[in-house]
Amino acid sequence: MGRPIRFLLDGEVRELSDIDPTLTVLNLLRYHLRRTGTKEGCAEGDCGACTVVLGEEVEDFVRFRAVNACILFAPMLDGRALFTVESLAREGALHPVQQALVEQHGSQCGFCTPGFVMSLYARQRDSRPWHTSSLKDELAGNLCRCTGYGPILAAAESMGPDPHADEIYALNRALHAIQPTESLTIEHKGRRYFAPRTADEFAELVEANPDAIILAGGTDVGLWVTKQQRVLPTIISLNEVREFKLMTGKDFTRFGAAVRYDDAHWLLEKHHHPEFGELLRRVGGRQVRNLGTICGNIANGSPIGDMPPALIAAGATLVLRKGSIRREMPLEDYFLAYGKQDRLRGEFVEAVIVPKIPQGRIFKLSKLSKRFDQDISAVCLGFSVGVEADRVTDARIAFGGMAATPKRATACEAALTGQPWTHETVEAAAIALAQDFTPLSDMRASAAYRLEAAQNMIRRAFLESGGVARVLDAEAVAYG
Ligand SMILES: Cc1cc2nc3c(=O)[nH]c(=O)nc-3n(C[C@H](O)[C@H](O)[C@H](O)COP(=O)(O)OP(=O)(O)OC[C@H]3O[C@@H](n4cnc5c(N)ncnc54)[C@H](O)[C@@H]3O)c2cc1C
Ligand code: FES
Ligand code: FES
Repeated sequence: MGRPIRFLLDGEVRELSDIDPTLTVLNLLRYHLRRTGTKEGCAEGDCGACTVVLGEEVEDFVRFRAVNACILFAPMLDGRALFTVESLAREGALHPVQQALVEQHGSQCGFCTPGFVMSLYARQRDSRPWHTSSLKDELAGNLCRCTGYGPILAAAESMGPDPHADEIYALNRALHAIQPTESLTIEHKGRRYFAPRTADEFAELVEANPDAIILAGGTDVGLWVTKQQRVLPTIISLNEVREFKLMTGKDFTRFGAAVRYDDAHWLLEKHHHPEFGELLRRVGGRQVRNLGTICGNIANGSPIGDMPPALIAAGATLVLRKGSIRREMPLEDYFLAYGKQDRLRGEFVEAVIVPKIPQGRIFKLSKLSKRFDQDISAVCLGFSVGVEADRVTDARIAFGGMAATPKRATACEAALTGQPWTHETVEAAAIALAQDFTPLSDMRASAAYRLEAAQNMIRRAFLESGGVARVLDAEAVAYG
């Protein structure tokens, strides 16, 4: 038997041995540790009732992340600190977050309340200087059916400072003391879980176990267990591989396989293009972005993932690795057909390389979903056009939700390239989308709606980039 999983709960070291590797942290808390303050609402990462906070050692500080316990596997606690709603009140005194919710009447049935408390607690403890997201963004992954969000937001605005902030140094030391030096291996009733610590070890394991499930943030994989009741015989986690957490580069950024949305957000927004910030703000809720990875969103091959259209438009390159052999390809070439990607058995996505968007280029990202926050796209556009002397030099236009894979709109691109950057050209390009795509009707949108929405996204990209809709002028003339 391998070494135990070791984590901190309220500052005390806890060990877990011989557990089912897909035991969720929610079930660990409720059924094994009898901490029932953390609630189960949806068991699929949507409602936030199960929100807990993880403390992670990142360089020389502790990073606090609100995460959904319902889709987090217990082995992912290894080397981390766990905080639940029971961690907050001390000696009968409520924590300021809890006190503020009481005072502002932010709780009725109370089912969602522990989740809101933990999301606000994570925000309070997040000391990153660039951390500027709004309270609404922080709480978009928490749903409440009774109170209404007014009192909850009022509580969030009025909560006092964390009275235990000075405990951070002790926490930092305690976390440091439990950092594993050896990889984690679990064997339990025929199921296996590996969490290697180096890229080479990971690559070897994946090559030797080509049928194993690769686990990144688990925001897809977690649902296979909680919703589809799938049994996963072998899991190989990439979360502990330091090389995979890196973001490096100058005119480009290489995002390793374990880079989470939240870690990439600031860099993509500030150094690549502000449009990325707005798109990432709408990927899941805060809890999903705290776990989900950019590469996981690509690797899963979903036709409605948000990153592929954006990154294809940006001209990203995918790095695949099998054993010690790497190959690179334009991101769009990875998606072959529905559920089929250009990935060999035993191969994995090691990184995605995203170039900076050159100054002056017209770059737009648009996501259309039924709900603004925490919803999967019906249609998603990545639009990148070079214009010189009022003429289009080149175009990279990609859509999600319009075909069985994320896909470039080649007829639309051809209708733009070499043409004057005018309303007429853009109109022709929008109409050409009908040659590129025959979208499906499903619960998110009908085929006709998808096509029309996609065409309007192209028109909007033109208008938002300063283009003039001459049709409006014509209408003004027609209607006198
Ligand atoms: C509530 C909720 C909201 C969501 N909202 C959005 C949304 O708005 N937009 C969106 O696009 N997605 C959304 N998702 C889906 C999900 O968050 C993303 O697809 C996410 O990026 C997956 O990344 P992950 O790291 O969690 O992957 P995992 O769940 O760990 O893995 C996903 C798949 O990719 C494989 N995989 C992961 N990494 C690699 C790798 N490096 N190499 C090879 N295979 C790999 C896994 O084996 C698995 O098949 C949402 C999910 C939830 C639960
Ligand atoms: S129970 Fe709904 S997000 Fe976990
Ligand atoms: S107080 Fe009842 S769901 Fe939020």
